Amino acid sequence: MKFFIDTANLDEIKEAAALGILDGVTTNPSLLSKESMPYRKLLTEICKVVEGPVSAEVVATDTEGMIREAEDLAEIAGNITVKIPCIKEGIKAIKRLSEKDIMTNATLCFSPMQALMVAKAGGTFVSPFVGRLDDVSHVGMDLIRQVVTIYENYGFKTEVLVASIRNPLHAVDAALMGAHVATMPFKVITQLIKHPLTDVGLKRFLDDWEKVNKG
Ligand code: E4P
Repeated sequence: MKFFIDTANLDEIKEAAALGILDGVTTNPSLLSKESMPYRKLLTEICKVVEGPVSAEVVATDTEGMIREAEDLAEIAGNITVKIPCIKEGIKAIKRLSEKDIMTNATLCFSPMQALMVAKAGGTFVSPFVGRLDDVSHVGMDLIRQVVTIYENYGFKTEVLVASIRNPLHAVDAALMGAHVATMPFKVITQLIKHPLTDVGLKRFLDDWEKVNKG
């Protein structure tokens, strides 16, 4: 499973990239609004730090506007992936952009049939938002299981990018279900490596090693 970081914060992206296991980045208008750098410059910098796909979202809601914005965003760097919302106009835009070889990430996906339409349109990624489904008392990860099964049934190439991840269990389930990508906030990425028994065990080994040296 690929690891993407879900942030537009350059320091967090650099720190996650330094782990050597970061495969990509997802941003959205809300994440970009938290940063002070102008968004084009920021996206340019992010694309220099991470070689893999870097998602940047359109804000137009009509097909032609989405395509114009997508072409403009794609000029920033070769690894820009254009986020397009899962609406009717978005499906048309994804189809047209796939014909132009511009990578897309269908965002705000909340149903298996939205995901099927994205795959039929030739989307590069589909982003089901699991945390936001949990927030309204639906089991977000059930959607991932359904989308993975549907894509496997028909051999679609679109990758399932689990988004709106809020905790390590979402990431565990994503991997068990065979999702292609998990995009996670910096905090969750750091939680994945942390285990109290590792810390306790390491301290004990180091303390005992001190005794070895004294002997
Ligand atoms: C994914 O691409 C989105 O940017 C993100 O995962 C949304 O997460 P949130 O629901 O925590 O805002």
